[in-house]
Amino acid sequence: MSKQRLIIFDTTLRDGEQSPGASMNQAEKIRIAKMLEKMRVDVIEAGFPIASPGDFESVKAIAGLIKESTVCGLARALDADIERAAEALKGANSGRIHTFIATSPIHMQNKLRMTPDQVVEQAVYAVKKARNYTDNVEFSCEDAGRSEFEFLCRVIEAAIAAGATTINIPDTVGYQIPQVFGDMVGRLIQTIPNADKAVFSVHCHNDLGLAVGNSLAAVMQGARQVECTINGLGERAGNASLEEIVMAIRTRHDVFSVDTQIDTTQIVPTSRLVSSVTGFAVQPNKAIVGANAFAHESGIHQDGVLKHRETYEIMRAQDVGWSDNKIVLGKHSGRNAFRTRLQDLGIELKTEAEINTAFSRFKDLADRKHEIFDEDLQMLILESRSAQEQ
Ligand code: KIV
Ligand code: ZN
Repeated sequence: MSKQRLIIFDTTLRDGEQSPGASMNQAEKIRIAKMLEKMRVDVIEAGFPIASPGDFESVKAIAGLIKESTVCGLARALDADIERAAEALKGANSGRIHTFIATSPIHMQNKLRMTPDQVVEQAVYAVKKARNYTDNVEFSCEDAGRSEFEFLCRVIEAAIAAGATTINIPDTVGYQIPQVFGDMVGRLIQTIPNADKAVFSVHCHNDLGLAVGNSLAAVMQGARQVECTINGLGERAGNASLEEIVMAIRTRHDVFSVDTQIDTTQIVPTSRLVSSVTGFAVQPNKAIVGANAFAHESGIHQDGVLKHRETYEIMRAQDVGWSDNKIVLGKHSGRNAFRTRLQDLGIELKTEAEINTAFSRFKDLADRKHEIFDEDLQMLILESRSAQEQ
């Protein structure tokens, strides 16, 4: 069965940059944009052009350089924002204006101080205005995760009628949980009469650690674009992580009717680049890109992986850009891993007694040291042999 395309919209350079302390200069943003293009990301949200002259220049430079991915600029539903985004995107091979307005009662009443009618009117105005510059216009209902369903239907139907080609449903404050969010997105697609005229997208924040789960639940109900960031960078607890979304869909191709065009071997190099540019370390146990994501320490797991990789691995380390998986020698390691590493180092222990002595010395050392490196092993064998000779 041929799969539908899931559009990967990366917002590392916009929402990712909104992580406190993660701001990037133009040269850094260009390096990341080029990596995202190489990874075959469909849409790169390069920034928020009205936010600062630097952001405007970065979006403009990226729009001029990137040829394979669509380059997107963010704009509130305001004249000046839309004009600035259009100006920054002028040189793009393929450009998109992404305009948004909040639709939840709490945002409309307390932040915008607008009535629902005014919000609909402003949304329609903004989409029409953006359409004067490009036929690729995305409209987002900010805080859709806490918006009323009937009002969402109303504003989205109006935005599509005004010319929006992508409708984004953000869970701006990470309030949703997968089943409820998936059902909501599915119901929107089923209920809105002109829903088939636009691609439905989701943009989930990670305040409850559910951004990826919520995004995937929405994909199962018909969303065909996911907004995400490398390493899950983003405002507060971050956005849905690109690497987790893409690898979940690739690994569980048996349950998804969509696929992405991402070159997954570029994931780890891009993650490293984003981490070094922002100074945000990747936690060791982070899925896919953490240092321990393909490392095995326990004896039972090491024995299993050495006999058949798939006993404890659901993905291949090389498929996401690691050189290989890792057998880490430590106090939980067993004989099989110990002996295999010695063989890899060209060390052969001939008798059972020799192996027993060396292995028990190894366990003593592992109690004192978190990780045993090759040099430790070489030294340990020398000492073990000389002790046996005496
Ligand atoms: O989280 C959010 O609602 C956003 C919008 C601007 C899409 O980042
Ligand atoms: Zn966001």
